Amino acid sequence: MRKPILILVLVVVAAFFIFGFALSQEEKGTGEADTVKKEVAQEDTTQKEDTTKVVYKYVGNTWCKTCHNSEGKGKIWDKWASTKHATAYATLANQESKKIAKEMDIEDPQKDAKCLVCHVTGYGQPTTGKYSLEEGVSCEGCHGPGEVYYTKHGREKERELALKSGFVPQPDEELCVTCHNKKSPTYKEFKFKEVFTVIEHRTPEPEKK
Ligand code: HEC
Ligand code: HEC
Ligand code: HEC
Ligand code: HEC
Repeated sequence: MRKPILILVLVVVAAFFIFGFALSQEEKGTGEADTVKKEVAQEDTTQKEDTTKVVYKYVGNTWCKTCHNSEGKGKIWDKWASTKHATAYATLANQESKKIAKEMDIEDPQKDAKCLVCHVTGYGQPTTGKYSLEEGVSCEGCHGPGEVYYTKHGREKERELALKSGFVPQPDEELCVTCHNKKSPTYKEFKFKEVFTVIEHRTPEPEKK
C-alpha cells in the first residue's frame, strides 16, 4: 500500500526539479540573448552616428532674400532685418559687450567663441562663400544650414529631399532656447509665446500654393 505512494511522491519531486531546471535555463537563455541584442543595437547606433552624419554648409542670407522678400512673399527678409537677430554680431562691438568681455577676460567679443556661439549663425561650422558673420542670427540660424535645401524646398516634389538635408520648416521653442538660456551673460527670462510675435513672419496666403 505505501510503496506506490512513495514512488508517486518521488516522481512528482523529480518532475519539479527537471521542470525548474529547464525553466531556469530558458530564462538564462533569453537573458543572454537580450544583452547581446542590446550590445548590437548600441554598436548599430554608434555606427550610424559615424557614417551617416552629414554636415551641411551654411550659405548665407542673400540666397534666402532672393526668393523671400517680395511684397507677395510677405517681405520676410525685411522683417528679419528689422529684428535684433540681424544685428546680433554688431552688438558684440558695443560698449555693453566690451564691459561684459572685460569682466570675463575676453579680448574681443566679435572674435571669441564664448560670444559667437549664440550671436551668429553656425559658428565654427562649414560655410560657403556668401556666408558672413555680420548677418548675425540669420534665416539659417533657425531654418537650418541651406547648402542642399535652399534651392530645393519650394517645390513639393523636392520637399522630402529638403527635409532630409537639414531644412527646419517650423522652428520651435526648443530651438530658441539653444541660445535663449542662462548661459547668455545678459539672460532675460524667455517666454516663447510673448516674444514670438516680435520675430514672426508669414507668407501671405495666395502665394502659398
Ligand atoms: C529659389 C527660391 C527660394 C530660395 C533661394 C529660398 N526659398 Fe524658401 N521657399 C521658396 C518657395 C517657393 C517656398 C514655398 C512657399 C512659398 O511660396 O513661400 C518656400 C518656403 C520656405 C519656407 C516655408 C516652410 C515650408 O514648410 O516650406 C521656409 C521656412 C523657407 N522657405 C526658408 C528659406 C530659407 C531659410 C532660405 C535660405 C537658406 C530660403 N528659403 C531660400 C523659395 C525659395
Ligand atoms: C543662434 C542663436 C539664437 C536662436 C536660435 C534664437 N535666438 Fe533670439 N536672439 C539671439 C540673440 C543673440 C539675440 C540678441 C541680439 C542682440 O541684442 O544683438 C536674440 C534676440 C531675440 C529677440 C529680441 C529681438 C528684437 O528685435 O527685439 C527675440 C524676440 C528673440 N530673440 C526671439 C527668438 C525666438 C522666438 C527664437 C526661436 C524661434 C529665437 N529667438 C532663436 C539668439 C538666438
Ligand atoms: C547662450 C547664448 C549666448 C551667449 C554665449 C552670449 N549671448 Fe549675448 N545674448 C544672447 C541672447 C539670447 C540675447 C538676447 C536676450 C537675452 O539677453 O537673454 C543676448 C543679448 C546680448 C546683448 C544685448 C543685451 C540687451 O540688453 O539687449 C549683449 C550686449 C550681449 N548679448 C553680449 C554678449 C557677449 C559680450 C557675449 C560673450 C561674452 C555673449 N553675449 C554671449 C545669447 C548669448
Ligand atoms: C529666430 C528664428 C527664425 C529666424 C532667424 C527666421 N525664421 Fe523663418 N520661421 C521661424 C518660425 C518660428 C516660423 C514659424 C513656424 C510655425 O509657424 O510653425 C518661421 C516660418 C517661416 C516661413 C513660413 C511662413 C508661413 O507663412 O508659414 C518662412 C517662409 C520663413 N520662416 C522664412 C524665413 C526667412 C527667409 C528668414 C530669413 C530672412 C527666416 N525665416 C528667419 C523662425 C525663424
